[in-house]
Amino acid sequence: MSSKWRFSLWSFLAGILAAAALVLTVAGMWVRDGFSARQRAGAIETEVAHFALHNSVSTHQRALANPVAPSAEVIAAARDHFADHCATCHANNGSGHSMYGDGLNPPPPDLRLEVTQSKSDGELYSIIQNGVRMSGMPAFGTSSEHDLETWKLVLFVRHLPSLTPEEERAMQQANPITPSELREQQAEDQFLQGISIQPKGSTR
Ligand code: HEC
Repeated sequence: MSSKWRFSLWSFLAGILAAAALVLTVAGMWVRDGFSARQRAGAIETEVAHFALHNSVSTHQRALANPVAPSAEVIAAARDHFADHCATCHANNGSGHSMYGDGLNPPPPDLRLEVTQSKSDGELYSIIQNGVRMSGMPAFGTSSEHDLETWKLVLFVRHLPSLTPEEERAMQQANPITPSELREQQAEDQFLQGISIQPKGSTR
């Protein structure tokens, strides 16, 4: 048998073993928790997922520099964008503790901490732009490397560790609200302006 053949045989066996390990892991997860989102991943599963995510971003993408310079205006605009599109899962302060965030598995990480802040700008851009498969993180941008809105969000993620309580309060104005919350808010505003509220079904 030539050395080329021996090499292919070993790769083949390694492939079979890796596939068997994967099947056993998934079967084990299913038997243990039936794919419930309540059961948090163990340390090994988390490490493997982080390793795979990190290595899925190409060296080229990781090295991309942010083309947008940080300024008070840019940060304020990105802050509102984050409050509108991201805070339902990540919370305004980036902690990940929100109505959806707490129920997601894997959960959104605390964006203020080392695990996120140690990633390069290019890697954060790539995650926001392309999303993370098999997690709740959606893909947001077009596939180009020059989506300025995404680059501004990267600046805001960098700003999160120094977010002030005033900024966090301002973000509440930009959080999405449900139609019933909107009606409640309008009724309150009218009440404060001294306008009487028409009972439901009234014609005038
Ligand atoms: C529907 C829920 C959801 C929404 C909306 C969402 N995310 Fe995420 N996000 C997640 C989850 C879950 C993860 C963790 C993915 C994983 O396990 O790798 C994540 C991961 C991330 C990460 C990577 C953090 C890290 O250290 O790996 C960044 C950055 C991020 N999100 C930014 C954003 C931004 C910016 C927006 C809005 C444009 C947004 N996300 C909207 C759920 C969400």
